[in-house]
Formats: sequence, C-alpha cells, structure tokens
Amino acid sequence: MDAPQNRSLADRRLLVEPSILSADFTRLGEECRAAMAAGGDALHVDVMDGHFVPNISLGPVICEAAHRAAPGAFLDVHLMCTDPGRWVDPYADAGAGHIQFHVEVMPRPAALVERIRARGMTAGIVLNPDTPASVCADAIPLVDTVMLMSVHPGKSGQKFIASVLSKAPELLAMMRPGQRLMIDGGVSPATAPACRAAGISVLIAASAIYGTRDYAAAITAIRG
Ligand code: DX5
Ligand code: ZN
Repeated sequence: MDAPQNRSLADRRLLVEPSILSADFTRLGEECRAAMAAGGDALHVDVMDGHFVPNISLGPVICEAAHRAAPGAFLDVHLMCTDPGRWVDPYADAGAGHIQFHVEVMPRPAALVERIRARGMTAGIVLNPDTPASVCADAIPLVDTVMLMSVHPGKSGQKFIASVLSKAPELLAMMRPGQRLMIDGGVSPATAPACRAAGISVLIAASAIYGTRDYAAAITAIRG
C-alpha cells in the first residue's frame, strides 16, 4: 500500500485534508510534516485574493514552501479568487496537485479546466453556502471534485452551516462514479458524521486539527 503522503484524490477511501490556514506559520514546514505524519491524506492550501473574499492568504511562495517541506504531500489548492485562471501556472509551479475554483466566478469552466489538466493537475469546483446546486450543472461533467463550503469563505474557525448538506443529494445525482464530493468549513469530530452520512468523501479541516494538541487524534476522530 502507498505511504499515506503518496495518496492522491484518486484513492477511493474517505480522505481527511488538514488545511494549513490554521497552522503556526512560524513553523510552517514542521506543521505540514506533522499533519501528514498524523494521518492527513493531503494538505489543503487556502488562497484568498482580497477581492473574492476580504482577506489575503497563502500566495504561491507559501505553497512552494509547503511543497518543499513535505514533498510527498498531495497539495489541494483552494482558490478563493475572482480570476482563478491567473493562478493556475503559479500554483502548478509551486507543487499543486489539485486546483479548486469557485463556480460563482466560473460557471462554464471548460477552458480553465483544460489549462489545469494541461499542467498535470486535477480540477474541482467549489460552491459557497448560498449558491444553489443547480449552478454547477454545466461544470460538474468537466471536473474531478465538487466542494461544498460549509462556512462563508475567508477565515478558519467559523461555525459549521449544517443546512448546506441539503445540497449533497442534488450534487451527487449530477456526479459520475469516481468524482468526489468534498466539504470545507467548520468540519470537526462533531460535524463530520453528518458530512459522511451525506455522501461526502473528502473532509477539510483547519482549526479542528491545528487547533488541538494531538493532530492524529483529531484526524482519526474526523475520519470516524
Ligand atoms: C475557509 C477556508 C477553509 C478553512 C477551514 O475560507 O476555505 O479551508 O481553512 O477552516 P476551519 O476548518 O477552521 O473551518
Ligand atoms: Zn478551503
């Protein structure tokens, strides 16, 4: 069996991705390695452009540093950006394995997905809490993953919005076998069971992992 850090999104089991947004940035490399050693399946890299969301975070140099610190870790880059196309090459160069962009800014993403794949990466769409599943109809056939935001994007440590799970059946009905439904925001040992029951197979968590002393216990509890 592959070492955990070599698993990619093609792996079929439930995946837990620590989001480095809540890592201690004074020790970023150590934090990346610790989350993977604790059982993380990939690292989630949150990119905020100060426009699509008010905050700014994790530019390509930080992604590249995470890649250098944990070269075996699959990097899932979540672009909370108004112009995702601008960032495909910089994050590909920085070691990204998967690029996710928001369907609100790119409802018909054929050209963007082609560019992401041309750089050897997989691609995913993300929906904000208030975005209906129907908005994804044109994009779903093109991508590898669909991700529900269960908080309003922009920061970690927010309360899980359980009502977003009601979109899961409609999304899963539009998805083909092999595509993964993901969730991001407020995921914790307390909220993960409802996510898993809704058919979500990739769980992202920042504060519920990095905000604890025992990353392995948190990841195990989220995995269930
Ligand atoms: C929110 C980010 C999330 C964030 C999750 O804008 O997209 O990935 O890191 O943080 P928690 O798990 O603390 O809600
Ligand atoms: Zn995210």
